[in-house]
Amino acid sequence: MAAVLKVENLHKSFKVGFIPKKREILKGISFSVEAGEIFGYLGPNGAGKTTTLKCTLGLIFPDQGQIEIFGHSHLSLEAKERIGYLPESPYFYEYLTGGEFLDFYARLFLLGKKEKEERIRSLLRLVGLERAARLQLRKFSRGMLQRIGLAQALINDPELVFLDEPLGGLDPLGRKELRDIIIRLKREGKTIFLCSHILQDIEMICDRVAILVGGRVISQGALEALVSEKILYTEVTLSGLSESDLEGLGEPVSSHGDRIMLKVFQEDNIERLVALVQDKKARIHSLVPRTETLEDIFVEMVRQG
Ligand SMILES: Nc1ncnc2c1ncn2[C@@H]1O[C@H](COP(=O)(O)OP(=O)(O)OP(=O)(O)O)[C@@H](O)[C@H]1O
Ligand SMILES: [Mg+2]
Repeated sequence: MAAVLKVENLHKSFKVGFIPKKREILKGISFSVEAGEIFGYLGPNGAGKTTTLKCTLGLIFPDQGQIEIFGHSHLSLEAKERIGYLPESPYFYEYLTGGEFLDFYARLFLLGKKEKEERIRSLLRLVGLERAARLQLRKFSRGMLQRIGLAQALINDPELVFLDEPLGGLDPLGRKELRDIIIRLKREGKTIFLCSHILQDIEMICDRVAILVGGRVISQGALEALVSEKILYTEVTLSGLSESDLEGLGEPVSSHGDRIMLKVFQEDNIERLVALVQDKKARIHSLVPRTETLEDIFVEMVRQG
């Protein structure tokens, strides 16, 4: 598959402090994003995700490195016309209505009247804000603001969309709505570059990820390749047994009333546990095998990195 974004050996430092001292934030970053995928750019706070994004968009200049978008220099008009961007903390002029806000950006792209109206209508539909077209942005909830921000990032019908923490600060429903919109964009053939540290969201929707720690990409690849299917342990919730009955079978995690939850690491212990439950006429409420998650890998990598 063709790479739509190629970043090679990117270095960026900032001068900080009263007596300015150079601090290197990006220490030779390389990765590529392929056409049609959702690419997750992961890293803890301060890792350099937004800095990478700003370099890619030409908002700040790297000290060293190459960036190509659709095979063109990232600073060229050919590249810029084909990208969209939702910043980390977008600025909203709050006295505009949803419709006026999108109209403003549509005009920046010199869209004709008919095309502009159609685009705005279809974007409002995509982000589920048709009814907010006449509502001022100051009356929008946080989730609505994120969605109108996303609509703005799509106003020029871009092929590659950069989203910096689009799910930050949203409740579970808001996150699901936004995830569904992002998946819909992928189905339409767009490529999505998603910066986030909400690992579950990344795990649910990204095809490939790069993990950034301390200004270096320490791992990148397909999610299936990073996260193994190996069962780490089985979480068992049961009642009718005492903690002393369970000794040596697993590690108790919590207990509520009669219910005990424990982690069982060895498979033969599960069989022994089931036999014990039958013998003592106790009850198993759930038995859930836990495979490795992106969070396990991420925590381990950040610790080592
Ligand atoms: N203009 C600047 N001047 C000095 N230091 C900066 C500047 N911009 C960013 N930094 C520093 O660079 C580091 C990386 O910041 P960046 O915003 O890229 O991190 P991030 O990975 O996006 O973090 P977050 O998850 O919190 O958004 C931070 O330590 C930050 O303080
Ligand atoms: Mg950031």
